[in-house]
Amino acid sequence: MRICAAENYEDMCRKAAERIAALVVTEPDCVLGLATGSTPVGIYDLLSRWCAGGHVSFSRVSTVNLDEYLGLEGTHPQSYRYYMEHNLFRNVDICPGHTHLPDGTASDLASECLRYDELIASLGGIRLLLLGLGHNGHIGFNEPGDVFVPGTHVVELEESTVRANSRLFDSADEVPRRAVTMGMRDIMGARSVLLAVSGAGKAEAVARAFSGPVTPRVPASILQLHPDVTLVADKAALSLLTAGREDLFK
Ligand code: F6R
Repeated sequence: MRICAAENYEDMCRKAAERIAALVVTEPDCVLGLATGSTPVGIYDLLSRWCAGGHVSFSRVSTVNLDEYLGLEGTHPQSYRYYMEHNLFRNVDICPGHTHLPDGTASDLASECLRYDELIASLGGIRLLLLGLGHNGHIGFNEPGDVFVPGTHVVELEESTVRANSRLFDSADEVPRRAVTMGMRDIMGARSVLLAVSGAGKAEAVARAFSGPVTPRVPASILQLHPDVTLVADKAALSLLTAGREDLFK
């Protein structure tokens, strides 16, 4: 794992966006795996501006998102499809048919999970996967559990995740309790992973993910086994991981 240390949230976003843009410029047909949430908002904003300025084009890029709430149509303002449209897709020159998220309204969810796995395989897998990190160590919506689940699957969200995400809803009661998420096979199968983290509130999760054992109790810890992970994080998020661990920066 490489650490790319940033001063603050803005710096973290710039460093992450630069890595994504550099890949898109050099490999215009690439497949990007994408996350939602608060962390990537500034990253998507920069990519949108660079695209508008003619510095990068997404016209040949395909995207696969990590997850989607169950039961929310793509037009629902809290759905991840809506988030992606507003934060990135409608601001760049990406082909709408090249943007993919799991369908959280599918009547047959087992088939939908299989379809999503097959879709990712048919695209040739993910070239670069942008991840955020949950306070409980989740990546995508792979919540802490007894096993790492390989394929796309339906999850019950932890109460702490529902609480964390309720900031975006009018009340916690409105937050869906279930979601569809990409599993660990596609996450670990991504050729490179960019884990973006910001803020002191995530410092403990970062430390548990990278200085503790690899365990499904801390889903992000599986990234210790990935050959090409870059942790792009600000100093606050790195504070517990890097104390006395200068070796991590080598
Ligand atoms: C969202 C996702 C989640 C978030 C994580 C951090 O698509 O995959 O794993 O990345 O919950 O969320 P924020 O960035 O809101 O703290």
